[in-house]
Amino acid sequence: MIDPKSIAAAKPILSLSQLSCSFNSAGRASSCSYCADPQAELERNVCPRCGSVHALRDVSLEVYPGEIVGIVGESGSGKSTLMRCVCFDQPANSGAVTTSLVDDGQTNLLHCSPRQKRQIRNTLFGMVYQNPYLGLRMDLSALSNIAEQMIASGCRNVEQMRQRGHALLERVNIPLSRAGDAPRLFSGGMQQRVQIAKALSNNPPILLLDEVTTGLDLSVQATVLDLIMQLRRDLEISMLIVSHDLRVIRMLAQRSYVLLNGRVVEHGLTDQILEDPQHCYSQQLVHSLL
Ligand SMILES: Nc1ncnc2c1ncn2[C@@H]1O[C@H](COP(=O)(O)OP(=O)(O)OP(=O)(O)O)[C@@H](O)[C@H]1O
Ligand SMILES: [Mg+2]
Ligand SMILES: [Zn+2]
Repeated sequence: MIDPKSIAAAKPILSLSQLSCSFNSAGRASSCSYCADPQAELERNVCPRCGSVHALRDVSLEVYPGEIVGIVGESGSGKSTLMRCVCFDQPANSGAVTTSLVDDGQTNLLHCSPRQKRQIRNTLFGMVYQNPYLGLRMDLSALSNIAEQMIASGCRNVEQMRQRGHALLERVNIPLSRAGDAPRLFSGGMQQRVQIAKALSNNPPILLLDEVTTGLDLSVQATVLDLIMQLRRDLEISMLIVSHDLRVIRMLAQRSYVLLNGRVVEHGLTDQILEDPQHCYSQQLVHSLL
């Protein structure tokens, strides 16, 4: 793990700068002359004039090499939208996403061509979706799901894909006897673990995890959290982890950002936020843990 003191010296491996994303009723980017102003007063995240939902407003954050950064916030605060903007599933209205791994952080990835985005997505980011149906092909076997991801990043060697697939499934504790089964036959915890295996298949330097443990039994949650902690120990991988559950963030993330109605209302060392939350919403979150 990175030493907080060295953070100032290191370059962020992932940086979001003033990212904004809003939707009209058709799900398209939208704003009016009133809500185009970042300071405009909204009703939670909705523009009182045009009704656009502002899922993200001027969000800036950094992930440093080897760090696990948490994003915590209530339902609807914009957490999944943030993840989807970073991995290009969702176009942002404005702002920048950069990584020190592309042009030394000088290129706004959001302005890259669709082909470049696909390549970046397949080589730099491993994404684990909140909803496993978005991250997995439920009718293909677990092994084929992993192979598909490897093919997307240029691998053509079947034996290599099989071996890597088996190694990854073992790594996430899926018995090899189930490698040929379709994820729709798996439990929720197993589906999330197959998603993690798939996300790791190209050795991405950055892992994006959206509510990986939500909806799972406590004991199953514990096995997935354990797995993430093992990955942190064993691989040099930086992670952005989203959860509405501060307990999950407390366990995994050294630094965190608190999101409310699409805005970052507080960020810092997770322990410090837990001990001395500054924003009234963070205070509520922390008190709900007691
Ligand atoms: N495609 C879309 N079209 C319209 N509105 C959307 C779309 N995607 C998200 N939103 C809205 O953006 C806001 C943020 O949604 P998002 O899914 O990012 O929240 P979240 O923090 O991930 O919530 P949860 O904890 O429930 O997963 C919500 O008000 C949501 O209704
Ligand atoms: Mg979400
Ligand atoms: Zn508006």
